[in-house]
Amino acid sequence: MKIIIHGRGTMSSLLKSVAETEEDLEITGFADELTEEKGDIIIDFSHFSRIPNMLKFAVNNNIPIVICTTGYDDKILGQIKEASSKIPILLSSNTSIGINLMNDLVSKISAILNNFDIEILETHHNKKADSPSGTAKTLFNIINETLENKMNLVNGREGNHKRDKNEIGMHSIRGGSVVGEHRVIFYGDDESIEIKHTAMSKKIFVHGAIKSAKFLIGKKPNLYSMKDVLS
Ligand SMILES: NC(=O)c1ccc[n+]([C@@H]2O[C@H](COP(=O)([O-])OP(=O)(O)OC[C@H]3O[C@@H](n4cnc5c(N)ncnc54)[C@H](OP(=O)(O)O)[C@@H]3O)[C@@H](O)[C@H]2O)c1
Repeated sequence: MKIIIHGRGTMSSLLKSVAETEEDLEITGFADELTEEKGDIIIDFSHFSRIPNMLKFAVNNNIPIVICTTGYDDKILGQIKEASSKIPILLSSNTSIGINLMNDLVSKISAILNNFDIEILETHHNKKADSPSGTAKTLFNIINETLENKMNLVNGREGNHKRDKNEIGMHSIRGGSVVGEHRVIFYGDDESIEIKHTAMSKKIFVHGAIKSAKFLIGKKPNLYSMKDVLS
């Protein structure tokens, strides 16, 4: 598999070093701005502002993309969806196997404990730019969908008012070198349940991205997720 890496930061460099140790993988591009790179797939760990140009390049050259970058807004999400009618795109804010299992568990628990108060907490290293994390937003969306889109997202909390029954609090902690921690807590009367995932190395994301790339090659144009890779 010939991989074009979009982005030259921490994750892209880790992907490059992991891929270079695997016989069936070849890196044919490593750039912030794609111009004339050739390959079977683009794996994107860049900055959201660079997604629109990458989409144009990928559509013009008919190359599928695994988009791992987070922090994009609805306008860019619309562009991703539009491009996925022309080329296969896999969009995942977190390519780790554990987080994707957590997504599933959280959805199942929300359906059962549907009158519990739910809070989402995420912790990342002090160099992370976007808050809350894309993974935390995905966890909210999954819970909200399970609860018939009746929940409101509250980022942090301040002021003098009680918690609303239909709100889900989201809290971002930043510090040190924490790779990534996500917690979803379900509070009932006199009991609580917590689902927690801890990433101990960034390699989990790289391995998931490579697995996703192998899955995506040869698929028809559509927007895919890690659920498709793992099912
Ligand atoms: N899906 C997943 O499982 C997963 C896992 C980890 C991270 N991520 C996401 O992947 C992305 C990259 O992460 P990373 O840790 O590699 O980040 P990073 O080290 O900051 O690298 C990001 C890349 O984007 C460029 N960049 C940074 N700020 C920019 C700006 N304001 N405008 C244009 N380009 C900019 C950087 O170029 P310079 O070095 O020249 O600034 C670099 O090439 C992030 O969105 C992160 O949240 C996803």
